[in-house]
Amino acid sequence: MLKIAIVNGPNLNLLGAREPEIYGKQSFDDYLKVLSQQFPGVELIYYQSNVEGELINFLHSCRLSTQAVVLNAGAYTHTSIALADAITAIGIPVIEVHISNVLAREDFRKTSFIASKCVGSISGLGLNGYALAVSHFISTLFSEPK
Ligand code: DQA
Repeated sequence: MLKIAIVNGPNLNLLGAREPEIYGKQSFDDYLKVLSQQFPGVELIYYQSNVEGELINFLHSCRLSTQAVVLNAGAYTHTSIALADAITAIGIPVIEVHISNVLAREDFRKTSFIASKCVGSISGLGLNGYALAVSHFISTLFSEPK
């Protein structure tokens, strides 16, 4: 079974309560139930941390335990070279997801240190961005060799 890690960075534990006009009213725990039902054939492993080093440690653990990572690095997107290096280091495909459209917000959100290390980025499509990323991995990693 395809194993995909869903990784959320700082402040994303407060989804549902945090700036709902930007990030919506649904908690991530509730959304995760929906996501698991949408993809019954995939094992989704969820990890969230507000700590940069913990996110890096978790990404390292994904190297041998999962086939792909969906990563919303939160504000570390815009600051963390260490996280960018970790994505390169693990050598498995990572998709960058942002719930809000980061290009339509403050200038400091327009820089992503991780984007160039990821296979692609999804921004501004709300929580559905996570489902789209999982769906992409299913169609690219799960297809039977012909
Ligand atoms: C975010 C966008 C980031 O700029 C912000 O710091 C977040 C959430 C998003 O999902 O839209 O924490 O990654």
